[in-house]
Amino acid sequence: MMPIGPLMIEHRVIEKMIALIAMAVPVIEKAGTVDGGLIDTLVDCIRTYADRCHHGKEEEILFRDLGRKKLVEEHRQIMNELIEDHKWGRVKVSQLLQAKGEFVGGKQEALAKVLTCLKEIAIFYPKHIEKEDKHFFLPCMDYFTETERDRMLEDEMDFDKGFIHKIYKEKTQQVRLALSSQLT
Ligand SMILES: [Fe+2]
Ligand SMILES: [Fe+2]
Repeated sequence: MMPIGPLMIEHRVIEKMIALIAMAVPVIEKAGTVDGGLIDTLVDCIRTYADRCHHGKEEEILFRDLGRKKLVEEHRQIMNELIEDHKWGRVKVSQLLQAKGEFVGGKQEALAKVLTCLKEIAIFYPKHIEKEDKHFFLPCMDYFTETERDRMLEDEMDFDKGFIHKIYKEKTQQVRLALSSQLT
């Protein structure tokens, strides 16, 4: 399998998550309220899976290795756009979380911000995925030898192998810190 194989499979999972975000919009609009737990779950899907796990592999393996090649201008430009897209996604998800916090804290007007963020995320991700799937991933494979591709695939598998352990080590550390701060 080429190293873009697992990334494209992950795109299909992210599309399902994005479909849920799109589905949540009319539900929230109809109810005139939002369940904070629902937003937390959607944010976790995007932050942990789409960003840290998926974008993590793109940036730390695919883009890293492409960065060592002499890319044609078109590919260099798309890669820079993709990196900027990832940054935009991180900012938007933080804004969503902040708006949710304001709403849950009693600011009724923050519901509109929650909805705007959800709508923007639902429009943004399919475009980002299409750019990678249809205009970037396949042509980029031509820069690599078969040995290099195999090494990248191995790197991706190693990344995934360590991922769950990294996430829960961090979570444990965060909870420990939060609890310790309440004891002092
Ligand atoms: Fe990406
Ligand atoms: Fe991607």
